[in-house]
This record gives sequence, structure tokens and C-alpha cells, in this order.
Amino acid sequence: MPPEETSPPFNLRICCIGAGYVGGPTMAMIASKCPHIRVDVVDLNEKRIAAWNSAELPIYEPGLDEVVAGARGKNLFFSTEVKDSIHAADIIFVSVNTPTKTFGVGAHKAADLRFVESVARTIAEVADSPKIIVEKSTIPVRTAATIQTILESSEKGLKHQVLSNPEFLAEGTAMADLGDPDRILIGGEQTPEGLAAVEKLVSVYANWVPRERILTTNLWSSELSKLVANAFLAQRISSINSISALCEQTGADVDEVARAIGSDSRIGPKFLKASVGFGGSCFQKDVLNLVYLCGHFGLPEVAAYWEQVIQMNDWQKHRFAERVLRTLFNTVTGKRIAILGFAFKKDTNDTRESAAIYVCRDLLEERASISIYDPKVSKEQICQDLGIGPDDPRVEFADSASQAAADAHALLVLTEWDEFRSLDFEAIFQSMVKPAWIFDGRSLLDHARLREIGFKVYSIGKPLP
Ligand code: NAD
Ligand code: UGA
Repeated sequence: MPPEETSPPFNLRICCIGAGYVGGPTMAMIASKCPHIRVDVVDLNEKRIAAWNSAELPIYEPGLDEVVAGARGKNLFFSTEVKDSIHAADIIFVSVNTPTKTFGVGAHKAADLRFVESVARTIAEVADSPKIIVEKSTIPVRTAATIQTILESSEKGLKHQVLSNPEFLAEGTAMADLGDPDRILIGGEQTPEGLAAVEKLVSVYANWVPRERILTTNLWSSELSKLVANAFLAQRISSINSISALCEQTGADVDEVARAIGSDSRIGPKFLKASVGFGGSCFQKDVLNLVYLCGHFGLPEVAAYWEQVIQMNDWQKHRFAERVLRTLFNTVTGKRIAILGFAFKKDTNDTRESAAIYVCRDLLEERASISIYDPKVSKEQICQDLGIGPDDPRVEFADSASQAAADAHALLVLTEWDEFRSLDFEAIFQSMVKPAWIFDGRSLLDHARLREIGFKVYSIGKPLP
């Protein structure tokens, strides 16, 4: 749909470049809370845009369908008309992907900023009035300076404002996080024009977020805070995962330890769930980006400190696969292993950096035969993640947990989907090769009951059987 001129009832036009996990839900929330603002979400990916305009949205997120359905076609529009939308917008959100660089200087650590740069160049080319450009993507500190330099190179004499407004939503709870955020963070230049731009963006969020939860800072604090928030969250998981290994050796129970330390109000109870390892598109990428920045700014000790968070996570994923191997008499060759859950966490179809990918790869390396069931992840996605063809004889794609488990030597729980708690484990036990093993990578199931049924159980951070 071609963007039209701003006309009543709209008194502001927002364009968001990038219709992904962040751009789509964030803009849907703004549109639903601000009927007086027209929101255009644009992307170069035609397939993705077509899906946003269909009944089957390109991402699964609880509550998203309803919010999109309520605003789409009224004040929320999805299109590939990137340039027209930039031209017509007052505020432009940049919500493109910022993956880890895979080549050249900073490979496997630094952020690949080519999509951000490309958007900045398009804005410089197309805009013929001053815009507020909002960094929604997670970027290295001082990226706003790069964007500003590109914009100023257009020689049109326009003074655009660049703001930082990082997103803190978590997948699976995106709509709840967006509707009732802990805080909104907005950083801008500390000049009259910069502060006015900040205030304009504050007024958008103030339509539903209490003012005291909207934090404003200088540009660099806001940019850096996003990386630091993810680094602290990832660090907590690596910390508890490191302790999970010690628990297994000593008879301590990691869930009890987490409860004991989390009851201290200074530590707090959240993000202390031991697991097979954190996944998702951002924790690893953002911690590595922080590591790279510390090195770049001449702080190798700080870089080494944060790098350990990633090393611990890598170790935890391999440790789990190795535990399966060792327990199954040091060989899984030709044995059927059932994988329950492939998404990086429950309530999402996202598999980026999912621990399941690493565990499956390790098992395939040992020539296991694996059967995978996930309620939301497609066969195509799993094949892509494992680098296999759809007819690879080593991998079967099951339609249910019970189908995956039939004739398996072991069942591995890798995602904490709620439905796994209430499976018919008696029937599953009957269908498996004995001794039938469950390896609970999420400490999700009722282990006492499973043992009663006859299973042998290993669970992350629990005393070894
Ligand atoms: P994504 O890959 O799902 O979506 C990015 C979209 O940008 C893609 O659809 C891509 O086609 C589009 N795009 C890239 N270049 C473009 C261009 N020049 N013009 C138009 N469209 C273009 O990524 P995402 O998960 O939405 O993440 C986006 C950013 O938000 C990243 O920086 C990420 O770190 C950050 N972030 C993500 C999450 C999350 O939960 N996924 C949470 C907070 C922050
Ligand atoms: C995370 C942050 O929580 C968001 O605030 C942030 O905006 C986002 O990254 C981002 O920048 O992309 P997300 O990755 O979607 O969100 O999901 P989380 O709930 O943080 O889970 C990340 C991983 O950690 C998952 O694999 C999860 O299973 C694992 N995890 C989480 C644990 O292993 N233990 C825990 O206690 C919590």
C-alpha cells in the first residue's frame, strides 16, 4: 500500500525500517496505543511483508495477532515502500538486524553494521525535511556518530536528530513487555534541538507508559546501556550454569541454591534458572560486541572478563551433549535420541543460537540418529540450522513428543515448553528402549514421578544419579 500524505486523524507519522522480531511487535504496540499516529513498517524482504499483511504473521508471539489485527489497515501499515515511507515520516525507527561480523576485522565479535549504514544512506538520499532518526537496533556505543556523519554528507543542509532508544523486550513475552515495560530508555544529544527530539519521542511512549518509567540520558549512555543490560543478564545465567556443574558433583541441587541466593533482595530471584545454555539472537552477539568494544578501547582485562560469560555458555552446551554420550555407555552411534524442543526458549518459533542446535550437532557428530519435536519450529528451519537436507536419514521430524520418543534410547528436553510437563510419560516409557533415559536440560519435569515410572533421569544441576 503506497503511503499517503499525513491527514487527519493522524498528527504524526512514524516509519520503522525492519519488520522483524523487534520492528513488527514494537510498531504494532505503538499503533494500538496511539490511534492518532500513522505507523508504516517497511522492509526489503517481500515475503516477510506479505506475511505481516496475511492471517499468518511471520513471527509467533503470544498476543501479537490480536494487536496487529486491531490496528492493521487503520493506522498500522506494512509495505516494501521504504523510500516513500522515509520521505513521509516525522520519526524513523531503524530496527534492522545487527548480527556478529563473520569476516575481516573483528570477525566473530564486532557487530556487522552494514544494514544500519545502508539505512542511514537511504535516509540521507531520500529525506527532504528534518527527521528524528531513532536507533532501535542494538548497536555499538558511538554508532549515532557514524549515522550523523553519513546524514550530514548529503549536502542538503538538513539538521536531522539521531536518538538512541534500545529495545528490552524478550521473545515469548514481547507484547507484555511492550505494553508494560520496566523502563523506556531514550538518549539524545544534550543540545536544545536534541532535547526537543527526545521530548517528542517521550510524548509517543507517554501515551501508555508512566512518565517516571521513561528514562532520558545522553546518547552514549543509552547506546551502551543496552549492551550492558544483556551482558548482565547473560552473566547471571552463566554464573548459575557454572554452579550447576558443581551441584552435580557435590549433591547440591541448583534450584535450591538459586532459591536460597535469590531470596536475598540484593541478588533477586530472576534469571537464575540453570539450563543447557542460553540461546537467542542477542545475548551472545551483544556480549561479544561488548568484548570487542573493550578491546577496541584498550581495555583487554575488561574484555577477558566478559568473554568468560560466552565461554561458560559454550562449555555448558557441550557438557550436556557429553553427559548424554557418557551416560549411554560412551556410544550413541546408531541410537535413536529424541529431542523435545528446538526453539531457544518457550513460546517462540525463533531458533537463533538455540542450545538445541549445538547439542544436535554434537550428537550427529557421534553418529546418533535423532528425532526432533518442537511445537512451533518448522522442519525447514531445523534443516537450515543443522545444515542438513530434508531427507537426511539421520534426522526425523516428529509431529508429537510421543512420536519422537518411540524406540528412542533417550529423551532430551531442550526447550521448556509447558506442554512437555503434561506428557503421557507412562506410554512414552513403554515405547522406549530400556534403560530409558531422560536428560532434562531445563530442570522442567517432575523427576520423582519419572523415576517411579521407571525412567533413569539426569537433570542439569541436580545430584548425579
Ligand atoms: P530481524 O532479523 O528479525 O529483522 C530485521 C529486519 O530488517 C529483517 O526483516 C531485514 O530484512 C530488515 N532489513 C535489513 N536491512 C534493511 C534495509 N536496508 N531496509 C529495509 N529493511 C531491512 O531482527 P530483530 O530480531 O528484529 O532484531 C533487530 C534489532 O533489534 C537487532 O539489532 C537486535 O539486536 C535488536 N533486538 C532484538 C531483540 C529480539 O528479541 N529479537 C530484542 C531487543 C533488541
Ligand atoms: C533477551 C533479554 O531478556 C531482553 O531484555 C533483550 O531485549 C533481548 O535479549 C535482546 O536484546 O534480544 P530473549 O533473548 O528474547 O531476551 O529471551 P530471554 O528470556 O532473555 O532468554 C534468553 C536465553 O536465556 C534463553 O535461551 C533462555 O532459555 C535462557 N535463560 C533465561 C536461562 O537459561 N535461564 C534463565 O534464568 C533465563
